[in-house]
Amino acid sequence: MPTIITLPGDGIGPEILAPALELLRTISEDFTFDEHAFGGAAIDIHGTALTDETLAACRKADAVLLAAVGGPKWDTTDPEAPRPEQGLLGLRKGLGLYANLRPVRPLPALYDASPLKRERIEGTDLLVVRELTGGIYFGAKTRTARSASDLCEYSVEEVDRIAHVAFDAARLRRKKVASVDKANVLETSRQWREVVHIVHRARYNDIELTDVLVDNAAMQLIARPADFDVIVTENLFGDILSDEAAMITGSIGMLPSASLGEHGDPGLFEPVHGSAPDIAGSGAANPLAMFLSAAMMLRHGLGRDADAAAVEAAVDRALDGGLRTRDLGGEATTAQATRAVIDELGRE
Ligand code: IPM
Ligand code: MG
Repeated sequence: MPTIITLPGDGIGPEILAPALELLRTISEDFTFDEHAFGGAAIDIHGTALTDETLAACRKADAVLLAAVGGPKWDTTDPEAPRPEQGLLGLRKGLGLYANLRPVRPLPALYDASPLKRERIEGTDLLVVRELTGGIYFGAKTRTARSASDLCEYSVEEVDRIAHVAFDAARLRRKKVASVDKANVLETSRQWREVVHIVHRARYNDIELTDVLVDNAAMQLIARPADFDVIVTENLFGDILSDEAAMITGSIGMLPSASLGEHGDPGLFEPVHGSAPDIAGSGAANPLAMFLSAAMMLRHGLGRDADAAAVEAAVDRALDGGLRTRDLGGEATTAQATRAVIDELGRE
């Protein structure tokens, strides 16, 4: 009986998590779900975005399924005030989730939903492997009356282990890795490049490795997205490039992610999109990225590959059948989208 910690979070979070649990229940009655307040919701109750108790429960669980955190209610520039995002960062660090996988694969049915021309995106199937527990996100922060700083630091080990994740992933795909850095300016990037090449030479001669500067990568992602296979990069660059890559699919409402740590430790599965406070409560949120995140949980977190593939296929078929939520230019509500996917799941 796998135990899954569920973190609905804020905004549309609870509205998309509930349908995902409904979906998972149709797959198996074996899952135990244990819900905890997280993000802004936890700040309101406990004064902190991630309580020790929630973190401890996550550590003991088989997987963590998170919807989204944040909202204007908790937005502040006061460095002393608790922020919902601290919960997310605390969870990533606390569970040692250094590898963030963000697949981007626009479905043919959605080619015309993308702001990019169909010819540009046809055939795109890429995976962003983002380093998730290092770099500027976690370096020392300082603030005085007249200045502020964020330290960007990487150890050789941190780069080495994420490089392995990227090369291993590429081996199961089209065997190409683009390592993205800013080695023409940053010392952390020069070390990144060196370490990635050492790992490549030692164990991955069968993989084609290219170095791409981050500004150029941002351009190439739009100019020729289909040429990319695996993109591996540091925390902040991965944050930015994965939002950019999301638009290739037409909507950030389509993208799932998995954050993984050491083998056997619980992973965290969440959509790439945020809590969309502007549409919260309207019933219009697109639950598909949440469903696809549940699929990634089934595959990477619970070892249930066939169930994962069934969910992904059901989402594909529902879209082929014309399902379009508002973000995809349609009218379907969250409830209708959920129905469509669960119906497809039953049709197998
Ligand atoms: C993401 C988000 C987070 C990040 C925020 C909410 C802290 O943008 O998962 O990409 O920057 O990592
Ligand atoms: Mg982001």
